[in-house]
Amino acid sequence: MTDSTTRYRHKGLNLAYQAEGAGSVLLLIHGFPLNRTMWGRLGGFDGYLTVAPDLRGMGESEAPVANYSMAAYADDLLALLDVLGADRAVVCGLSMGGYIAFEVLRRAPERVAGLILMDTKAAADDELGRQGRNAMAERVRHDGPAAVVAAMLPKLLDPEVAKVRPDLVDLVRRMMEGTPVAGLIGALEAMRDRPDSMALLGAVSVPTLVVVGAGDQLTPPAEARRMADGISGAELEVILGAGHLPPLERPSRTRAAMVRFLAQV
Ligand code: MLT
Repeated sequence: MTDSTTRYRHKGLNLAYQAEGAGSVLLLIHGFPLNRTMWGRLGGFDGYLTVAPDLRGMGESEAPVANYSMAAYADDLLALLDVLGADRAVVCGLSMGGYIAFEVLRRAPERVAGLILMDTKAAADDELGRQGRNAMAERVRHDGPAAVVAAMLPKLLDPEVAKVRPDLVDLVRRMMEGTPVAGLIGALEAMRDRPDSMALLGAVSVPTLVVVGAGDQLTPPAEARRMADGISGAELEVILGAGHLPPLERPSRTRAAMVRFLAQV
């Protein structure tokens, strides 16, 4: 995608996105603690207006001190669809972006024309997971983004990719380091408190593609398979040579899977 920022206001916040192409909207929701540039290697999609927002608290969007939840993120994105004059969109979310895609589906199913769930999961955090979020938020309060970089960076990319593509490691590190503390803590608390979406799977009635990196250490292929099995007619695409971030690690394989899917939506 070309890199030009557009802005809109919602609930008093100044929020950023970029859009490219023309046609039906393909909404790309990034993961934690990244920003819209994680989609930059995919390129545009014929027949689609590809829209990549920066979630509140990340990228170039404003970071309020409070008011982070899956509902708030989803609301920001539904407002963005209103700004674009789009009744419906194909909603694609990676990891935390997937949690938000589920929330968009819960709040406004009529606005979802198709779903792409990448390296994400439907289950909520268990008690141990919630404690982990609190511990990480505490570390971020003391050490800033460096705490998240230390914990997550080694797990995001496939080790083989990380070895030969230091530029990608740097790009991911810069995204993380550039995330304000308020945005990091807000997102950690929003993920900790997110509702379980397992019960939603059986009700998904739109075309769905589940994508996962074969080497994803955070949301492994078994998790993706479980999610795809729960959604009637869902396709599963395992991207070889990728970890948690296939659009960055293997953009052409990821793009090919998306193009095939989008042709059927
Ligand atoms: C992400 O990549 O968005 C996060 O790792 C998701 C999570 O921590 O649950």
